[in-house]
Amino acid sequence: MRHPAIHIAPPRGRLGVMLVGLGAVSTTFVAGVYAIRKGLAQPYGSLTQMSTIRLGKRTEHRSPLIREFVPLACIEDLEFGAWDIYPEDAHRAAVQAGVLDAALLERLREDLEALRPWPAVFDPTLVTRIDGPNVKRGEGKRQLIEQLRSDMRGFIRARRLDRAVVIWCASTEAYREPGPAHASIAAFEKALDANDSSITPSMLYAYAAIMEGIPFANAAPNLGVDTPALAELAGERHVPVAGKDLKTGQTLLKTIIAPGLKSRMLGVRGWYSTNILGNRDGEVLDDPACFRTKEVSKKGVLDYLLQPDLYPALYGDLCHRVQINYYPPRGDNKEGWDNIDLFGWLGYPMQLKINFLCRDSILAAPLVLDLALFLDLAQRAGRSGIQEWLSFYFKSPMHAPGLYPEHDLSIQLKKLKNTLRHLRGEELVTHLGAEYYD
Ligand SMILES: NC(=O)c1ccc[n+]([C@@H]2O[C@H](COP(=O)([O-])OP(=O)(O)OC[C@H]3O[C@@H](n4cnc5c(N)ncnc54)[C@H](O)[C@@H]3O)[C@@H](O)[C@H]2O)c1
Repeated sequence: MRHPAIHIAPPRGRLGVMLVGLGAVSTTFVAGVYAIRKGLAQPYGSLTQMSTIRLGKRTEHRSPLIREFVPLACIEDLEFGAWDIYPEDAHRAAVQAGVLDAALLERLREDLEALRPWPAVFDPTLVTRIDGPNVKRGEGKRQLIEQLRSDMRGFIRARRLDRAVVIWCASTEAYREPGPAHASIAAFEKALDANDSSITPSMLYAYAAIMEGIPFANAAPNLGVDTPALAELAGERHVPVAGKDLKTGQTLLKTIIAPGLKSRMLGVRGWYSTNILGNRDGEVLDDPACFRTKEVSKKGVLDYLLQPDLYPALYGDLCHRVQINYYPPRGDNKEGWDNIDLFGWLGYPMQLKINFLCRDSILAAPLVLDLALFLDLAQRAGRSGIQEWLSFYFKSPMHAPGLYPEHDLSIQLKKLKNTLRHLRGEELVTHLGAEYYD
């Protein structure tokens, strides 16, 4: 079915991308954008830069690039700002992260050195393994929010930006369940006034961005914007938000393989996942309270994908274990092992082993780029609140109350592309295909 196209304001001027945390993911993203702009590298891994979208029937052979189909900001128009608890500029931070070659970073030195982080809002009781001097001092949470809002406004003014987005790429905060303080805007604001400890820094950044009318995404598994209060605030203030926890290595593969096994009605008795990881993220996640946040995010995926309530004989007894081991020699080059105990016809057992030698931030950086560009598009298209069509990018996709999240990567991609078709008034692709045989 075709709909009229939705009005989308053109991407005039420049787009500010403000990153909370200037660590491995952020610096790999920023350096990557500069390298691509200089023609030194290609934007592999990015849908907004490389993917096409099929329009109309298969016989029409219309498959433009996504970036030519919807009006996205171009990467030449991006400007970067960041907060971090360490004062090092993006060049030093990138060298310290150890993801990109020193020779490449040297060629980008001038641009990266110009990015110096603003003092951060930080709570050392929520991230215990690191501590840094570049932090804001404030009388209370309201004052800290005012300081964040002033950073955002100052950045937009000083760089003469047209629009901006904020993306949390900071360390994972210790596990918190959503509680009464997060249940509504009124409860959240009351908790802010009382400096309630259940309002964490990631929520303060999210609140500040939404109040400034700036889209916000959360690349990490801590709650951040994923509370009823902030989702409601985002809806009320017409700001698009998305989260949480980028789907990069092991979980990406899980959301590709598990739907495949399920589509063939193959049973799964056990799924054992373990990783070694030696970057700062790994160090932070070595604290059991922070690991718990990641574990909840990683473990939820299989429960939803395999639907043991609908298929108790196939998945009712599934034993799912996830481990992350901090192992400094590997740095950002994570190695993951999965052992899947599955069974087929008549219950005969089989095993599948996956050994993924990946690079965490190389997988994450293009997702940050896509999120920045798609959130900006969403705002110019008048969308607000939770952007479920961006589930494709997340381990724990935000979703409306009463819904279960969609984790299957291929369904998530269809949802994303159909949203783009919908925005442009193109026919949605249902894959029914009956028209070719009528
Ligand atoms: N790389 C991936 O594949 C991937 C995938 C999913 C999620 N993530 C998440 O993304 C986040 C970033 O990962 P990374 O590898 O860049 O980690 P990192 O440790 O290299 O960088 C995080 C940075 O955030 C800073 N920071 C911590 N708390 C802060 C605060 N309150 N305000 C401002 N800055 C703060 C730290 O000082 C550090 O420089 C982590 O939470 C990680 O779990 C990463």
